[in-house]
Amino acid sequence: MNRIYLTTPLYYVNGDPHLGSAYTMIITDTLARYYRANGWETFYLTGTDEHGDKIAQAAAEAGMDPKAFTDQVSTSFRAAWDTCGITYDHFIRTTDAYHVRYVQELLTKVYEAGDIYFDRYGGLYCFGCERFYTPKELRDGKCPDHLTEPESIEEENYFFRMSKYQERLLRHLEEQPDFIRPEGFRNEVVAMLREPIGDLCISRPKSRLTWGIEIPFDQRYVTYVWFDALINYVSALKYKGEQLFQKFWPEAQHFIGKDILKPHGVFWPTMLMAAGLPLYKHLNVHGFWTREGQKMSKSLGNIISPLEMKEKIGMDAFRYFLLRESVFGQDADFREESLTARYNADLANNLGNLVSRVLAMEEKYFASIIQPLGQAWTKEDEELRGAFLQAEKELKRYMADLAFHRALETIWGAVDHANRYVVRTSPFVLFKDPAQRGRVGEILHHLLEAMRVLSHLLAPFLPETSNEIKGLLNLSEGATSQQSPWGSFFLPGHKVKPPKVLFPRIELPAE
Ligand code: MSP
Repeated sequence: MNRIYLTTPLYYVNGDPHLGSAYTMIITDTLARYYRANGWETFYLTGTDEHGDKIAQAAAEAGMDPKAFTDQVSTSFRAAWDTCGITYDHFIRTTDAYHVRYVQELLTKVYEAGDIYFDRYGGLYCFGCERFYTPKELRDGKCPDHLTEPESIEEENYFFRMSKYQERLLRHLEEQPDFIRPEGFRNEVVAMLREPIGDLCISRPKSRLTWGIEIPFDQRYVTYVWFDALINYVSALKYKGEQLFQKFWPEAQHFIGKDILKPHGVFWPTMLMAAGLPLYKHLNVHGFWTREGQKMSKSLGNIISPLEMKEKIGMDAFRYFLLRESVFGQDADFREESLTARYNADLANNLGNLVSRVLAMEEKYFASIIQPLGQAWTKEDEELRGAFLQAEKELKRYMADLAFHRALETIWGAVDHANRYVVRTSPFVLFKDPAQRGRVGEILHHLLEAMRVLSHLLAPFLPETSNEIKGLLNLSEGATSQQSPWGSFFLPGHKVKPPKVLFPRIELPAE
């Protein structure tokens, strides 16, 4: 049986869900829905990253104890994803007892195997990133992410012998070139591995930070937040049972944004090697969204909230825009103007018109009752069927390649074809001739069939719209009609619903 294990990063609970996190959720949710519908066994994991300086500081600013603070924010994250209709299978919190236990077990194992050692270390530390920087990594002496000068600190800590696994990881990347994809990010990791990577400081003294998982072999320390958080991908499966772990871990596909490439591309695989666990299958890295060409940040006040987008244009339209307007792995820009243009052209006009005009004709000409299909199909009928079957086939390849924009382009190509079929066959003209009414019934039957196939093609991307179309076609919920050959599904006499506007046009203010 085919299987896939999909993961998102665990979101820091020092902010609200935004465009970046929503994008990863929408991609992974689309894949989960797609593979589930195709009969794959899927497990889809998300959650929240709750330890470390950043969170302790956010809790202090909110005047709350870190536990109460993380409970509150994690709950609101989860509620937000539920409202957005994200179909995750499990939601992990790094403060969950089973996760804490598993991190400690793994630390003990790696320590006992000799891959964790104690040492004195002095270095440049960025509190924002919660990590040490080498002078070479800084830009004008500042942290490239936070643009602040790191502080020079010296202390005794525990270190993970990451460098021991450097060569092995480099070899793995050479043997399995699509381990990290797209290729540009793989090359970045290869470049990192061609330089000495050093060992990784994995503890923080409690004198500086107490909000973390205690190092099981030294109570004076807590675990570095990344060494804790990355392990979630395994601890969640283990929590669900060893059998689930055995089944899904070899099929693991992580999805992350490009800023967290190093922890996922270097720390995590070397940690897995030290723990004696197999490596994940793929690390899939996406680019960054900007807004009207600018970086998004709280201080600029230009953050996009998925919940607000849902209110404003609906979740499906938001999903459509993010998936259609970006190329996986590349940066993308969120522009109000492109959003409106895509919405009106692709959703309101192309898709919306097809659905409403077909149902309107069926209602007007045949009281919404589907008419029989004759034996002889015209060239146009065959081509219509071909366009949808082709889209179905191409979808498979595009989904495997994470080319969501192409997948949608292909589906919209078929929708476009259906609209052209209406023009070419002109049922509204034919109907005027009583001798042609049988043919009009056939044309509409083909179009309703196209809508039925379309409802399946759209399901992973625009789940609400897909259900609406199924409802309009009067298909029972979860109807397993996907496999029916073209033209054999609807029995004459089947009644569809009156037309409905799926996507009301967004009227632009007059210039
Ligand atoms: N907690 C860590 C991940 C630990 S995974 C074991 C973290 N959290 S985060 O909340 O800061 O970021 C979560 C994700 O959002 C990251 O994948 C990051 O790349 C993504 N994005 C944040 N801003 C983004 C954009 N503007 N655009 C696209 N994705 C962005 O890092």
